[in-house]
Amino acid sequence: MRRRRAAIVGTGGIAGTHARALRAYADQVEIVAATDLDAGRLAAFTSQWEIPGRYPSLGDLLAAEQPDLVHLCTPPGAHAAAVPDARGVRRISAQAPRLARDVETEDVSFAHLTFANGAVASIVNSVLSPREESYLRFDFAGATLELSHLYGHRLDSWTYTPAPGFEQDAPPWPPSGEEVPSGHQAQFGELFASLRDGRRPAATGAGLRRTLESVTGIYASAFTGRRVTRDGLTADSPFYHRLNGSPASRARTVIRRRS
Ligand SMILES: NC(=O)c1ccc[n+]([C@@H]2O[C@H](COP(=O)([O-])OP(=O)(O)OC[C@H]3O[C@@H](n4cnc5c(N)ncnc54)[C@H](O)[C@@H]3O)[C@@H](O)[C@H]2O)c1
Repeated sequence: MRRRRAAIVGTGGIAGTHARALRAYADQVEIVAATDLDAGRLAAFTSQWEIPGRYPSLGDLLAAEQPDLVHLCTPPGAHAAAVPDARGVRRISAQAPRLARDVETEDVSFAHLTFANGAVASIVNSVLSPREESYLRFDFAGATLELSHLYGHRLDSWTYTPAPGFEQDAPPWPPSGEEVPSGHQAQFGELFASLRDGRRPAATGAGLRRTLESVTGIYASAFTGRRVTRDGLTADSPFYHRLNGSPASRARTVIRRRS
């Protein structure tokens, strides 16, 4: 099978993580080119990772290289601009943004979500907690599942507690099988498997949109002090375009001041 051709857009901090994860699949993919507005950074990155193609813009890169995959490792504001350029590319992998620090909702927030099927969730986000942790807890009728980790989890990061009377239903825990720690490498592995099998990847635009809708709803509720429903997050909502609900011109001003 021919190796897929990958390109990296933006060669700053997170691009190295993408390059390292791609190299773990060197039998399936080669990094053929990269682009960055900063020529010095581009030169250093492509030398370090021995990437042959260097281009001043994504348009030039796409015209010359026709990659199968494009990894967007630019700041979030540049992602959307790249998408029209990247039409025709088989897969786009966009680095999830860390949200801008100007917005206080990021410092600490408590959200209560009700899903269409009646399930409820509470979400606590805090950058103020002295002990950093990602903690997920799922309470089902027959068991509680918990995941506790920081920047990456493995099988032994999970615990399983059966409800009284459900002990006999408990699966072997932790599950046996190949250990695939979370992270870029695990995600790219799934992406390549989907390309190989000719199926849609597990994380599609439609699925990611639901995640973004939840995040947008939390911001909209925090800024307006109101309960927000999914139906209200349409293109005529200011929060649909900017998480702080500000007009585009004001958001641009904030970005300029911070740089
Ligand atoms: N660094 C991390 O650990 C980390 C972790 C999680 C998420 N992220 C997210 O990844 C994204 C990138 O972060 P980073 O830390 O790598 O930033 P960075 O500033 O180190 O690198 C971004 C690079 O993109 C380039 N760039 C900007 N606009 C461009 C364009 N239009 N075309 C080509 N290149 C362009 C910049 O010149 C810069 O070299 C952000 O959304 C960030 O929130 C980063």
